[in-house]
Amino acid sequence: MKLNWFERLVVNNPVRVMAQRVEIQWFKRTRPGSPGQRVLEIGCGRGAGAALIHRNFRPSRVYAFDLDIRMVRMGATSRHEGVRLTWGVADATAIPVKSASVDCVFGFGFLHHVPDWRQALVEVRRVLKPGGAYYMEELYPESYQNAITGRLFEHPTHDRFRSPDLSRALRKTGFTSVGRLEHRWLGILGVFQTRC
Ligand SMILES: C[S@@+](CC[C@H](N)C(=O)[O-])C[C@H]1O[C@@H](n2cnc3c(N)ncnc32)[C@H](O)[C@@H]1O
Repeated sequence: MKLNWFERLVVNNPVRVMAQRVEIQWFKRTRPGSPGQRVLEIGCGRGAGAALIHRNFRPSRVYAFDLDIRMVRMGATSRHEGVRLTWGVADATAIPVKSASVDCVFGFGFLHHVPDWRQALVEVRRVLKPGGAYYMEELYPESYQNAITGRLFEHPTHDRFRSPDLSRALRKTGFTSVGRLEHRWLGILGVFQTRC
């Protein structure tokens, strides 16, 4: 589901990028990866995440996809030296990338926007190589659908995930946890890996 005008304002904001900077440092400490990898960012928004991934993980290839063409257009104007970067409009439930073709998937706050989030997890798993990693930042409904945020933001309302649902679905999809920082009501920063 695309963002409403208010959430676009919140997300396309330097304060948001400051939070992502801290998060990517945690991702890097938890699972450093190696330079030259093939990376996908799904729900990339206007591309602040892709820039941070490039700076911190030094991939050779990045696919940056989002459902919203307005977001992708903003990202596609940025320049990144030394990396092959493809911007595209794509739905996380049908990612236009070959199976077992990327080393890492990054998802900064996209999964809770997807009505069929379980299918999005299946897709993330499908595109990852064996031993590949999913770097995740996600929110739980108590943070984005409470009395205040429920009026300001627009999200799918059915079948929302909290920690136990997400953990179960990740396990069922074939992910194991490398590390996680979690708050019961706020959300999760996690790194999950597929079996080698
Ligand atoms: C909260 S924003 C986060 C944007 C960016 N990753 C960031 O952290 O600033 C969620 C993003 O996910 C995108 N999105 C929502 N549903 C999606 C889907 N089914 N497939 C791909 N992207 C989706 C939205 O268009 C939006 O850009």
